[in-house]
Amino acid sequence: MVKLTDVNSKLLKARYAVRGKIVNRAQELEGKGHKIIYCNIGNPQALKQKPLTFVRQVLSLLEYPALMDSPEAAKLFPADAVKRAKTILGHNPSGTGAYTQSAGIPFIRKAVADFIHHRDGIPADMNRVLLTDGASKGVQAAFTLLTNHENDGYMIPIPQYPLYSATIELYGAKQINYFLDEGAGWQLNEKELNASYEGAKKAGINPVAIAVINPGNPTGALLSHENIEMVIRFARKHHLAIMADEVYQENVYAPGHKFVSFAKVMHDMGETEATLFSFHSVSKGFLGECGHRGGYMEVRNMSDEVYAELVKLQSIGLCSNVDGQVVTYLMVAPPVKGDESYELYVKERDGILGDLKEKAGILGKGLSAIEGMHIDVPQGAMYAFVRFELPHPKGSYPAKMSPAELQKYGAARDEEYCLRLLEETGICVVPGSGFGQAPGTLHFRTTFLPPKEDILALVEKMKAFHSAYTAELKKK
Ligand SMILES: Cc1ncc(COP(=O)(O)O)c(C=O)c1O
Repeated sequence: MVKLTDVNSKLLKARYAVRGKIVNRAQELEGKGHKIIYCNIGNPQALKQKPLTFVRQVLSLLEYPALMDSPEAAKLFPADAVKRAKTILGHNPSGTGAYTQSAGIPFIRKAVADFIHHRDGIPADMNRVLLTDGASKGVQAAFTLLTNHENDGYMIPIPQYPLYSATIELYGAKQINYFLDEGAGWQLNEKELNASYEGAKKAGINPVAIAVINPGNPTGALLSHENIEMVIRFARKHHLAIMADEVYQENVYAPGHKFVSFAKVMHDMGETEATLFSFHSVSKGFLGECGHRGGYMEVRNMSDEVYAELVKLQSIGLCSNVDGQVVTYLMVAPPVKGDESYELYVKERDGILGDLKEKAGILGKGLSAIEGMHIDVPQGAMYAFVRFELPHPKGSYPAKMSPAELQKYGAARDEEYCLRLLEETGICVVPGSGFGQAPGTLHFRTTFLPPKEDILALVEKMKAFHSAYTAELKKK
């Protein structure tokens, strides 16, 4: 039998807090009949978000093509869903049960390129688009392509989505933290990027890429055009590739704000040197089709030979799953005005996004009104990264701790806080240390995906819990 000591030490070291110890405890409590409000993960349909009707209609027809030509189809499905399924089958006659080209079905890659072209008003090449099993596999493909030497390192935001830190561990690469500026709405700060880069170089690390998540997870922040421009200049100066994680591009709620893609800014700047990997997914936005594992990676500024290696890498895993490819197609080519499904599609889309916006407001405003909690209304994504304060127990002297000691001390405190919150209220959130946080600060990440009643209950329960927990610590 394989023993733990036989297991790849890199895997043993990798951490993925979003599904860690606290979630396991939540499941245990749920098994014993407790009501749990799961706010730990951006998994919309697990939290009662309904799938878009059009997406599921087309998928159903493709999974059972005999339906398309049956007289029942006209009664069960709108004409454009049947037509769409037939078009897809026409382009991919072997159906959803056969492997496709490694990069993905060509006409879907073309539709992705058209989507980027229309979204940004820039040229996009279908031969630089790869369809992936969710954005996660695209991100990992970029890591596989780029990690070449023992000292290769990746600049990642802190706080970050732990796919990045965990993949760095798995690949034996070096993690180079750059802190997002909480005081400036979690934007990237040029001084901080320079300091982080220089620090890595001094430590003998060879930075190869910088990852940016926009809109942010866990911060919910939206990066400005200027901020993106700064990152591109920085990447070019230091010969870094850019990984732009844009899975939340549809989840923008702040009035007057708009998602701006790295591809667009890069094109507008005339940047032809820095390599860009952009990632998108069917898991987020208003589709929330996490289980279908669909997404794409678009690459810019990459030679044909290098791109061929990326396709070869995909081919080692044969291809991404075909249902996921189809859902990616439906994400980038939704029904248009005049189609039978258009009105319902728009109603469902706007309903989901409107609901998320409302819940972001309830959560942001509700939690920021609690004494000792700090959070702005999230501008985008599905999360709030809430800073909170706790009194220090007698006998602990944080002012005398080194940054590493402070980090460890903070991690123990935010974990204990989240565990107690779960035990006492049934609210399942993730400790800030799972994403990284500035030494000396405490955070937790919560989604605003659960139904509105649950978000309202969460704010009330949090208020009572925080005040009781703080009072208890003061007595210690
Ligand atoms: C920033 C970010 N990138 C990537 C992913 C992974 O998404 P997918 O389901 O497409 O693999 C997530 C999932 O939560 C995420 O938050």
